Amino acid sequence: VKKLNELDVRGKKVFIRADLNVPQDDAGNITEDTRIRASIPSIQYCLDKGAAVMVTSHLGRPTEGTVGPDDTLAPVAVRLGQLLNKPVKLIADWVDGGFEVKPGEVVLLENCRCNKGEKKDNEELAKKMAALCDVYVNDAFGTAHRAEATTHGIARFAPVACAGMLMGAEIDALGKALHNPKRPLVAIVGGSKVSSKLTILKSLADKVDQLIVGGGIANTFLLASGKRIGESLAETELVKEAQAIMDMMKERGAEVPLPADVVVADEVSALARANRISVDEVGPHDRILDVGPKTSAKLAEIIANAGTIVWNGPVGVFELPQFAGGTKMMASAIAHSEAFSIAGGGDTLAAIAKFHIADDVGYISTGGGAFLEFLEGKTLPAIAALEERYTG
Ligand code: 3PG
Repeated sequence: VKKLNELDVRGKKVFIRADLNVPQDDAGNITEDTRIRASIPSIQYCLDKGAAVMVTSHLGRPTEGTVGPDDTLAPVAVRLGQLLNKPVKLIADWVDGGFEVKPGEVVLLENCRCNKGEKKDNEELAKKMAALCDVYVNDAFGTAHRAEATTHGIARFAPVACAGMLMGAEIDALGKALHNPKRPLVAIVGGSKVSSKLTILKSLADKVDQLIVGGGIANTFLLASGKRIGESLAETELVKEAQAIMDMMKERGAEVPLPADVVVADEVSALARANRISVDEVGPHDRILDVGPKTSAKLAEIIANAGTIVWNGPVGVFELPQFAGGTKMMASAIAHSEAFSIAGGGDTLAAIAKFHIADDVGYISTGGGAFLEFLEGKTLPAIAALEERYTG
């Protein structure tokens, strides 16, 4: 794909599609601004080069045709202004133009998903948006798995279409880990359900040297290997799939290291009393809520010897201190490892923040669904649109 820093944008009208879909509290205060910070390099680059900059993003999943009180990007405009150290005016109605941006100035175009036709990638809408600019920049990696008018259609009609700095960094980091990894390549896939991660597990089972599974996913794998898991969360209907993944890995000489010891309780609650036991001692009413210390030490060793690490999902209920040990040990092992590591997904980001290892992870993706689909090996429509533009 064409990249923003390869273009001369001086005096040009630049339309940047960013992903500024950030969490807010009930009063509309932004509670986490990583995505806004991550959008700054592309915007600043264009401003420094003397471009007239328009930025837009979706926020939430609004009804098309109106901008409700929870839909507005107004708080984002304020935060952007603070980070850029200059005023950022919010433009409410912008699809048909009629607003002014001078070279060296930046405006924020109101929630693009409030426009009729955005989600369905309407061609007429995409053409109107394309007509606003000389250069279209897609920097919204977090929305790259959506084919919408501002992420997909516009790339066909804008005079020039390119990837922004964040988009470029995400593609490079994720691509390096998945397509050209230093071995051993170790993936950690945790979380509660095999069903929501089945495609990723299958896709990774074909590539990685070790596949560490955690949480409810690990329980389903334990069932597949003939263990009793009491009342632990698992999906019995997917036991065969789990078995097939383990067989596939074994055939390649790769492995799925399953827990030898676990932390159990009879309920998931802050007051629950945790017991560390061997995986063979799990009783009929036990719930497995974390891996035990022996397993943690083994996983830490695998991580220490890795060449590349891909991390999505915790191995225990790390929100509760008595079940956080496994995820904490893993986070610390990743932080200390020499390996190139990438991490992504909501729970994973929360674990990274909780255990203060953000500076020690090789690359933290801003994508949730987009990160997962990239790991699944899917073609992300927004990236495909940029590629198609220049390969015919
Ligand atoms: C995200 O938060 O994962 C992205 O901003 C995409 O949002 P969406 O799932 O509403 O398309």
